[in-house]
Amino acid sequence: MANPKDLRNQFLRKTKSQLVDEITSLLSGITEQKNLEEALDHKEMQIRIALEHMPSGIRLIDKDRNYVFFNARYSELYDFPEGLLKVGESFRVENLYQAQRGDFGPGDPDELTDKWFAEWSGPLVTTSWERVTAGGKVLEVKTSPTPDGGIVNIVSDISERKRAQEALHQARDNLEKRVEERTRELTDEIAERKRAQAQVIQASKLATLGEMATSVAHELNQPLNIIRLAAGNSRRKLVKGEVDLEYLDQKLERIQNQVVRAAAIIDHMQMFGRKAEGKDIQIDPRTVIRNALGLVGEQLRLSQIEVATELPDACPYINGNMIRMEQVILNLLTNARDAIEFHGGKKKITLRVVEKNNGIQIISEDTGGGISPEALSRIFEPFYTTKDIGKGTGLGLSVSYGIIRDMGGTIEAENTDAGARFTITLPIAE
Ligand SMILES: Nc1ncnc2c1ncn2[C@@H]1O[C@H](COP(=O)(O)OP(=O)(O)O)[C@@H](O)[C@H]1O
Ligand SMILES: [Mg+2]
Repeated sequence: MANPKDLRNQFLRKTKSQLVDEITSLLSGITEQKNLEEALDHKEMQIRIALEHMPSGIRLIDKDRNYVFFNARYSELYDFPEGLLKVGESFRVENLYQAQRGDFGPGDPDELTDKWFAEWSGPLVTTSWERVTAGGKVLEVKTSPTPDGGIVNIVSDISERKRAQEALHQARDNLEKRVEERTRELTDEIAERKRAQAQVIQASKLATLGEMATSVAHELNQPLNIIRLAAGNSRRKLVKGEVDLEYLDQKLERIQNQVVRAAAIIDHMQMFGRKAEGKDIQIDPRTVIRNALGLVGEQLRLSQIEVATELPDACPYINGNMIRMEQVILNLLTNARDAIEFHGGKKKITLRVVEKNNGIQIISEDTGGGISPEALSRIFEPFYTTKDIGKGTGLGLSVSYGIIRDMGGTIEAENTDAGARFTITLPIAE
C-alpha cells in the first residue's frame, strides 16, 4: 500500500499535461456513471409501463410473503378495493378479504385464511390453477418461485374462454345425444323395414306356391300313378291265385320308394311355405338349383320345356338362406316358363353355375323372346308386371333383388338372341 506521502510526491512529480489528462479521464468517468444511472432509470420505467399495461394481473411477493410489486390489473381482476394491497406488507390481507367475501367457501374467514396461507409455506414449484371468485369470475392463476424465495403470480380472466368451452361441451353433448337418438330411430326403422320386407317376401313366396300348385300336383301324380299300378298289378295276381312272393316283394318295395318320394315333395313344399328365418348358412348353389327343379321340373316337362343344367363337378359354397335362394330360382324358372309359353317357338331353359372373379354366378337363359326395352328398366320394381291380373304379382323380381342384395350379391337382366338372361353374382362363402 502506498502511503499518502508517496502519493503526494508522485502527484508533484507529474507534468501539467499529465495532470490534465488524468483529470479529464476522471471527469468523463463521472459522466459515464451518470449516463448509466439515467439509462437504468429509463429501463425500469419501461419495465414498469409494460407490467402496468399487460392484460394479466401480476404480483410479486418476497420470501416473507410481503408485496414487492403488483399492477392495477391484479387488484382489478380480484375486485379488491383500492389501497387493500400495500407494498412491503403481508399478502394475507388479500386472502382474508377473499375468505370474508366467500371465495373460499363457507367457514370461518380467519381459519380459511390460515389454511390457505399454510398451503403456501411449503416449497413452491411452477404451477397453475383455476379460481372461481364469489362474483362468478373464473381466474387462471399461474405461479412461479423466484430464485430468492419469493413468488410471482400471473392472473388472467378466463371466464369468457370457460363459457365458450362450456358451450362447446354442451353442443357436443347435445350432438352426441342427437346422434344416439337418431341411431336408435334408424335401428328401429331398419328393423321395421326388415319386418316389412320379410312380409313381402313371404307374400310373394305364397304367390309362387300358388303358381306352383299345379306343378306340385303333377309332381305328386307321378309317384301316385306308380303306386296305383304296382298295387293294381299285385292285386290282380292275388285274385288269380298266383302268389309269387318275389314279385309281391318287388312291387311293395316300389310302392315304398314312391311313398318316400311323394313325402319328400310334400316336405319340401311345407318347408318352402314356412317363413324363412334363422341365420344364413353355407349353401351349395347346385343344391339350390336341384331343389328348385324338384318343385317345378315336372311342370316344365309337361309344358314341353326342355331344361338343361350345367353344373360344375365341384363348387364353392355361398352364404345365404336355402329357402330364399330357392325362391329366387323358382321365380326365374316360372318367369322363363311364362315368357316361353307366351312367345311360342323353341322351348328351352338353361341353368348354369360358374365360378367367376372370386364369385359364384347362377345364370338362367331362356328362349322366351326376351324383355322389351321399356320393361327392361322396370322389371325389378315392385308390382311391375306385364302379365294378366291373377297371373303375375310383379313381386317376384323385386323380392329376388332384395334377397340377393342382402346376400351381398347382384342380379342383372339382359336379352340374348333367343330370350332373356338373368345373371346372379354372389360372393363365395369364406
Ligand atoms: N325371362 C323373362 N322373359 C321375359 N320377360 C320377363 C322374364 N322375366 C321377367 N320378365 C318381365 O318382368 C316382369 C316382372 O317379373 P316378376 O317381378 O317376376 O313379376 P311377375 O312374374 O309377377 O310378373 C314380368 O311381368 C315380365 O314382363
Ligand atoms: Mg315372376
